[in-house]
Amino acid sequence: TNSSPSDLPLTGKKALVSAGPTYEAIDPVRFIGNHSSGKMGYAIAQRLHDLGAEVTLVSGPTHLNISDQIHRINVTSAREMLAACTKAFAAADITIMSAAVADYTPEQVATYKIKKKDDHFSIALTKTTDILATLGAAKQPHQLLAGFALETDNELGNAQAKLEKKNLDFIVLNSMQDKGAGFAGDDNKITIIDRNKDQITFPLKSKQAVAEDICDFILARYKYY
Ligand code: CTP
Ligand code: CA
Repeated sequence: TNSSPSDLPLTGKKALVSAGPTYEAIDPVRFIGNHSSGKMGYAIAQRLHDLGAEVTLVSGPTHLNISDQIHRINVTSAREMLAACTKAFAAADITIMSAAVADYTPEQVATYKIKKKDDHFSIALTKTTDILATLGAAKQPHQLLAGFALETDNELGNAQAKLEKKNLDFIVLNSMQDKGAGFAGDDNKITIIDRNKDQITFPLKSKQAVAEDICDFILARYKYY
């Protein structure tokens, strides 16, 4: 038999994905950013869409394109990302936060371009709101919430602490061990850790293939069939 869109496993489900970096303004021409490409989150958004979900993608600044059937909300700063994610979260059945959100933002944004002066210069920074933890605190029992963790030491311990602290259903640990894995590249090597402390480690593969693994994990565990 031919399959119709309504046969897809996530038909009728709403999904929310965050992706990319945030840019925190210092003055009208400068910002604090990071090297996140957005590729992992975009691949997850695409895969959830292909599985039939109605997808909202909250994206920091990237150079990527996505299917126009995905509702993309462009944001720049951590504050804007928080606002967009909080708004979309209430309706979402599945939420995956993969954005590389700035942990600190300048306390003040200079109105004019800052002039070069003394030999030393410092900027006062203040902590941003943890978007994932905010969603975790508001999470209802029917909602599935997942995040990422990027660690260089005590990888599993730190990732598991984040899972608990942020009230997640599972966390995806980005392993930095392998050359070619991570943040800015095309490939990723992950370990999924769930609330029961079960771990699944996957080999290094393309971010598209990693997105399939993550979505297969969701389908298998949470039986959205
Ligand atoms: N995250 C978020 N909002 C923030 C910071 C992080 O939503 N202000 C999310 C990220 O999208 C990711 C998860 O939290 O899914 C973990 O991010 P990470 O940087 O690894 O952890 P932090 O909690 O920020 O802790 P630290 O950077 O100190 O390791
Ligand atoms: Ca962080």
